[in-house]
Amino acid sequence: MAGVTDYTFRRLIKRRGGVGLSVSEFISVEGLTRSNPKSHRQMRFAEEERPFAVQIFGGQPERMGMAAEMAEEVGADILDVNCGCPAPKVVKNGGGSGLLKDLPRLETILKEIKKSISIPLTLKLRTGFTDSTINCVEAAKMAEQCGVEHIQLHGRTKEQGYKGLANWDLVRQIKEAVKIPVSGNGDVTSIENALRRFEETGCDGILIGRGAMQNPWIFRQIQDVTQGRAPYQPSLEEKQAVLLEFFELLSEDMPEMPALGKMKQLAGQFTKGLVGGAQFRQTLYHSHSAREILDNIGVYFETLTTHDTFGNGLTEIEADSDLEFNSCDVSINNSCETAVAA
Ligand SMILES: Cc1cc2nc3c(=O)[nH]c(=O)nc-3n(C[C@H](O)[C@H](O)[C@H](O)COP(=O)(O)O)c2cc1C
Repeated sequence: MAGVTDYTFRRLIKRRGGVGLSVSEFISVEGLTRSNPKSHRQMRFAEEERPFAVQIFGGQPERMGMAAEMAEEVGADILDVNCGCPAPKVVKNGGGSGLLKDLPRLETILKEIKKSISIPLTLKLRTGFTDSTINCVEAAKMAEQCGVEHIQLHGRTKEQGYKGLANWDLVRQIKEAVKIPVSGNGDVTSIENALRRFEETGCDGILIGRGAMQNPWIFRQIQDVTQGRAPYQPSLEEKQAVLLEFFELLSEDMPEMPALGKMKQLAGQFTKGLVGGAQFRQTLYHSHSAREILDNIGVYFETLTTHDTFGNGLTEIEADSDLEFNSCDVSINNSCETAVAA
């Protein structure tokens, strides 16, 4: 997720266990091939993250090939092509879900990339551009012919943005149409939901985006259950520790103010699963320094430990549908500046 799954966030989640594959934010091929420092920074990863995929976006076959080569050179295990981003600036330049409107161009891009790299190539699709032009099954079949080794489907159209629910029946249809592994994606925030999706679609994997911000242990919990164990239940101390660890990782990587911003972004989702989370979130939103945010985290968990409650005592989760963190435009605007300039 652009603006979210950076070097820091990915390591935080990977350390909780159960993650089969980590994927970078989408990275502009225009930025990469024109030496934009931000794009190069987005390709950083740690050994502990492996297997690690770099996801690129763009509309120009030659630049996509060049950028793919760069990802292989920095040691990525997998190269993933974004064919789903709905942001107007990305689509206008022929990238992201814009490729769903031009499958011949997507085909040329995939062939160009295959010529440039020897690591596996994967493709992340949306279902189609609009409701009346659903073409993900056709795109997946074409991609398989081009040598793509894994299809991932976010079950929404470009037009839908993040509204409504993901259509997982199309995951099933792709699974039936191709021989390569297929993963589904969209709205998975619970173990039960994940298990149901595996069962209904026969898919080989599930991608989780926003749900990982609410529950960093979700991958481990799903893995536990699929391997016949009781799902891991993090203690209160671990919940506190995960916030502190995030802040520490952020502080190693960026100045205090952006680190605070990132902390608030995660807190906005993470606190939904906590008792008195809404009030706790407010204290974090109103923190203006590292000291203040750390103090507020300390106060919250101490109150919870000693009094067994905080604020109004309510927990907001139970929320398969509560994934309103979806305005990727802000982060995408930043990520795409270089693409737009192209
Ligand atoms: C803030 C934000 C940024 C996103 N950025 C990307 C991206 O860079 N690449 C990508 O393939 N999908 C991106 N997505 C889409 C997610 O990967 C995922 O397909 C979608 O959120 C549905 O899955 P979820 O319900 O598990 O979050 C983004 C979503 C959000 C909310």
